[in-house]
Amino acid sequence: EMSREEREFQGRIDRGVKIEARDWMPEAYRKTLVRQISQHAHSEIVGQLPEGNWITRAPSLKRKAILLAKVQDEAGHGLYLYSAAETLGTSRDQMIDDLHSGKAKYSSIFNYPALTWADMGAIGWLVDGSAIINQVPLCRCSYGPYARAMVRVCKEESFHQRQGYDIMIALAKGTPEQKAMAQDALNRWWWPSLMMFGPSDSESVNSAQSAQWGIKLFSNDELRQKMVDQSVPQAEFLGLTIPDPELKWNAERGHYDFGPIDWEEFYNVVKGHGPCNRDRLKTRIKAHEDGAWFREALIAHSEKKAQQAAG
Ligand code: ACO
Repeated sequence: EMSREEREFQGRIDRGVKIEARDWMPEAYRKTLVRQISQHAHSEIVGQLPEGNWITRAPSLKRKAILLAKVQDEAGHGLYLYSAAETLGTSRDQMIDDLHSGKAKYSSIFNYPALTWADMGAIGWLVDGSAIINQVPLCRCSYGPYARAMVRVCKEESFHQRQGYDIMIALAKGTPEQKAMAQDALNRWWWPSLMMFGPSDSESVNSAQSAQWGIKLFSNDELRQKMVDQSVPQAEFLGLTIPDPELKWNAERGHYDFGPIDWEEFYNVVKGHGPCNRDRLKTRIKAHEDGAWFREALIAHSEKKAQQAAG
């Protein structure tokens, strides 16, 4: 049974009116948004690590400048998203503590290693490609500050996707060794990229409520299908093979059918047992501790300024 406030709230969402930070909202809506937006922010921040590892090993000055810009963009995305989550009344310190204690999740995808330069191509093409498909609808989600943050994030993600695909083109048109390296990266990143969209709709615990609240405009499986359909012609253009023997055009559905996802692997990674989970968290915690002096200096500086202003 909905209260009058809840009915009015749902009515606004159904009419497509954005919810703003100071508006009344059900506690569960607030909680869901903090969960999703903070997970999203953590994913951007942890997501700097697999590619950050390659900045010093980029094959040319141009590739290095592009990769550096992309990794910086991800830091920026994390900051917009923490700010959007803070409007809901949870502090950034709290969210970061929850990440470091292992309480908060971040995307499964960032727990896989980036083994070769071709991984920079595959990550941009497939991981950022999946991120765009998932995030473009979020620009229209019901919570104003999240929706507005996503507009710029999505523009930058398109650049990231393009730069990744450009690396794949260069490698796929290169020497046989380079093409083999591109194929190997595709083989390793394909299935984890499909897992980014989350569990299948039948297993997705949060989907129904998030759809009613206008946070999720498309289901996990709908977006995953979109990713598969978009990627097949791109792989064909590269002359590379998607590592799925069951991938096949289904004229009746107007979509590609694809093989089963290894959900055991997905849940294993989400629970913290992926190839890089421990290493990623350890690196983030160390970066945070190494930055403590800088945060302290910022606070000391702002206190001094406030004292000066007070006379
Ligand atoms: N990695 C880790 N955890 C995941 C993933 C994933 N790829 N997919 C789903 N989960 C978690 C959910 O967070 C949820 O756990 P929780 O209830 O403890 O939070 C659980 O698995 C069940 O999944 P759903 O019920 O489907 O959860 P939800 O409705 O939140 O949908 C989704 C998951 C689609 C990822 C959604 O949260 C979303 O759209 N988030 C915003 C985008 C985002 O975070 N992208 C990050 C990667 S992209 C990038 O940063 C470049």
